Amino acid sequence: MILEEIMNRHSGRAFSSKPISDEMLNSILEAGRWAPSCSNKQAWNFIVLHDKEVLTEAHEALSGGNAYGKAAPVMIIVAAKEDGGCSAHGLPYFMMDVGLAVENMLLQAVHLGLMGHPVAGWNEAELKDTTGIPKEYRIVCVIFLGYEGDLSLLDEVDRAKASRPRTRRELSEIVHWEKW
Ligand SMILES: Cc1cc2nc3c(=O)[nH]c(=O)nc-3n(C[C@H](O)[C@H](O)[C@H](O)COP(=O)(O)O)c2cc1C
Repeated sequence: MILEEIMNRHSGRAFSSKPISDEMLNSILEAGRWAPSCSNKQAWNFIVLHDKEVLTEAHEALSGGNAYGKAAPVMIIVAAKEDGGCSAHGLPYFMMDVGLAVENMLLQAVHLGLMGHPVAGWNEAELKDTTGIPKEYRIVCVIFLGYEGDLSLLDEVDRAKASRPRTRRELSEIVHWEKW
């Protein structure tokens, strides 16, 4: 029931501090590795943070709105070179490579009963400095990863955000059959 898992994936904010097994983490990274990519360029690189001290240092680089992510036992930073993807149509396909790998990892997390929340809110220079990511790479995404915790773990603002219904544009608005 892949559609059920796709729909169950959600960007929740309450993370339990319960650790993730290495086996689970490796299977999530495998899921990312097996994503499709333009010309099989595989532009992605995954920097996995799960050591408490390393995480604490990386947390300094998060934007204030993403402070809830400090509770997650794992952060996966996804970095790529801007010229790391294929160059068709003058489009930045490295971003699509990374996006597909991220979604694969998020879905594998759901499959394992975990929650992944992708974010774009961080200070890139600071996060690169902390983690030693070479300067020619861009940080495209950070995934907070862990077991979902209880909403009572959150402050009022995050609890309200986490309780909002998830919405999507209707198929009728986005799908064009045969012709736009
Ligand atoms: C590229 C990207 C950047 C995002 N950045 C943030 C972020 O900085 N902070 C945050 O709390 N959520 C962030 N999100 C999560 C989105 O808000 C979330 O995916 C969207 O609201 C849809 O909700 P759902 O994932 O529960 O379906 C980001 C998601 C993506 C794909």
